[in-house]
Amino acid sequence: MKILIAYATTEGQTRKIARFCADHLIAKGASVELLPLADLEDDDPFDISRFDAAILAGSLHGGVLQSHLSRFAAHHAADLSKRAGLFLMVSLAAAGNDPEERADIARIASEFAQNTGWTPSEVVHVAGAFRFTQYDFFKGLAMRWIAHSKGEVVDPQRDKEYTDWDALAGVLDRWHG
Ligand SMILES: Cc1cc2nc3c(=O)[nH]c(=O)nc-3n(C[C@H](O)[C@H](O)[C@H](O)COP(=O)(O)O)c2cc1C
Repeated sequence: MKILIAYATTEGQTRKIARFCADHLIAKGASVELLPLADLEDDDPFDISRFDAAILAGSLHGGVLQSHLSRFAAHHAADLSKRAGLFLMVSLAAAGNDPEERADIARIASEFAQNTGWTPSEVVHVAGAFRFTQYDFFKGLAMRWIAHSKGEVVDPQRDKEYTDWDALAGVLDRWHG
């Protein structure tokens, strides 16, 4: 089985998640191509028909997913929809149980499907990370305030990861079969 994993990342956590998915699926015997969407030119004639299934992953910033992820999903929606598809949406809202934030990420995922025309067979919300080592001064300040408002104790010199790797492995096992 040949699987495409196309991802967009801003601070690197979704890259780590995409690599984890690749390693996990390869260990199960799949053949995987990992595609960082930031490297793909808009006019690149990328061929989805080479794959049996696809995972798309991206992360939320200010309630918005990376535009190159949306462009890729929209451009290949017809071909993607003919294959098993898994959408991994990475956020910090997914790390908590706030009903409003949960409703928000569910809405953003369903708008993504509507706007791009790609309806994946499964959508999974994956908890991301505070990546203080990647933030500039102002982002760091804002993220410390967000952490504080959520009652999270963070060290601004260190990243804090919420991704549940065992749960993600379980999702992949169920999806891949
Ligand atoms: C500037 C900024 C804005 C963010 N906005 C949101 C948001 O609106 N909702 C949310 O749940 N998480 C938000 N996050 C958390 C990110 O989704 C989380 O850090 C994720 O791990 C980022 O993945 P990446 O490293 O692959 O870009 C934000 C993070 C940053 C730095």
